[in-house]
Amino acid sequence: MKKAINQALVIFGASGDLTYRKLIPAVFDLYMNNLLPDGYAVLGVSRTKFTDAEFRKKMKEGIKKFSNFNDAKAEHINKFLSKIFYQPIDTQKAEDYALVKNKLSELNKKFDLQKNYIFYLSTPPQLYSLIPKYLYGQGLTLQQKGFRRIIIEKPFGHDLQSAKELNKLLLGFFEEEQIYRIDHYLGKETVQNLMVTRFANGIYEPLWNRNYVDHVEITTAENLGVEERGGYYDNAGALRDMVQNHLLQIVSLIAMEPPIKISGEDIRYEKMKVFRALRPLTENDLKNNVIRGQYTASTVRGKQYAGYRQEPEVDKDSRTETYVAMKFFIDNWRWEGVPFYIRTGKRLPTRVSEVVIHFKPSPFALFQSEGRNDNQLILRIQPDEGILLKTGMKVPGNGYEVKSVNMDFHYSDLNDHYIPDAYERLILDCMQGDNTLYMPGEAVLATWKFVQPILDYWEQNPDAPLYGYPAGSWGPEVADELIEGKENTWRYPCKNLADDGVYCEL
Ligand code: BG6
Repeated sequence: MKKAINQALVIFGASGDLTYRKLIPAVFDLYMNNLLPDGYAVLGVSRTKFTDAEFRKKMKEGIKKFSNFNDAKAEHINKFLSKIFYQPIDTQKAEDYALVKNKLSELNKKFDLQKNYIFYLSTPPQLYSLIPKYLYGQGLTLQQKGFRRIIIEKPFGHDLQSAKELNKLLLGFFEEEQIYRIDHYLGKETVQNLMVTRFANGIYEPLWNRNYVDHVEITTAENLGVEERGGYYDNAGALRDMVQNHLLQIVSLIAMEPPIKISGEDIRYEKMKVFRALRPLTENDLKNNVIRGQYTASTVRGKQYAGYRQEPEVDKDSRTETYVAMKFFIDNWRWEGVPFYIRTGKRLPTRVSEVVIHFKPSPFALFQSEGRNDNQLILRIQPDEGILLKTGMKVPGNGYEVKSVNMDFHYSDLNDHYIPDAYERLILDCMQGDNTLYMPGEAVLATWKFVQPILDYWEQNPDAPLYGYPAGSWGPEVADELIEGKENTWRYPCKNLADDGVYCEL
């Protein structure tokens, strides 16, 4: 990895949780990995009236809790913090942006930043339309002297219409190549490995199609509830929070054709073809193939959990979904007729993200088998990152009884390799001007277009079922019916890649 060139990172929403937990710890990791340029500065911008010293103190705490180098020596942390500054402003006031401009000029002289600036928007989304406009007003978006880039956190829009408007507005102030729409899942090593597994091996690709794949299952489960984010979440829900972005991004990497080369443009082109091939959901799909749920209070292993409606800042009659499972198809040559099942939820039994490719069974059951016996390839995104192939083997003894066994590889076996956090990777890419792992505007709009009919259906049919599920369970049971066929159900993954089933370590 090469170092980035001299530049400043300006974070709007600097007093917020994301800056504290993710962004500053990630920039510190870059510093510790010697990937920051010699001339750099971070400028935090927010409404809270911190001094530089107060801001640094808070960021130090974040580094100690969340950085990969949380045990770094105090002298390293302090040296890093000495280039972090803070500028309080009222983000809604155009004139306050002059303060940002002045501060940047000052830092520019001090650290030779060569007028290269990244603006990171980690604010409430209502400000996404104001900040670019006011930066433009100060001449801060023009690239005559140095580069100017903007990173937009999700949610990018609240629905298709607002995403279109936001996109149009941004393009009034920035060129497309200056805009970095982030989806942190794309920064995860194991998400990038989906493409490597498929295209670096000769053995999988010939099987990766409708001839051999029975169905594809993708899960992103979380054991946490909404925590302190009830205010945001109650207006979003699982469909907007996870499906429109993270899950559909994973779908595109699983379903795409091989790109002609590993370049941002070629990869984005192939992913876009998948989004365009998503079969639009029919009235019947909306009714029967999209299941939404909401967690209810329960006691898990002696610990009591509140229901979603009892969480702070959540409406006590809320009909916001904390779980979505759905079935859909991709209309192209490779995937015609292969169902894709995806599910995501909060307060499920464990935190796990994985893809399961279910291969078709052998055409004729020659042998007697113990339980289900389809071949599955499991690509584990987190935790216990790795891959696992389920394959049938002979049970020792007389006769030919077959048992499903695991062949597995765990990323932790590569323990001499440092695994960067998703934000570390993505921030570095932006610093280097590489947008491969960011989303182009057209891809964001295409994924909104796919989910918009679901949002419309729920809005027009407020009584459409919203299934309660006890906190700590695998979601509404009715989601099992989505996966038809005698032995096919969802995989019930455990913390350890090699285990599944109802009884396992979570
Ligand atoms: C975020 C969502 O984008 O992703 C959160 O807003 C969710 O609700 C998070 O918890 C999950 O990310 P990860 O990396 O922990 O799987």
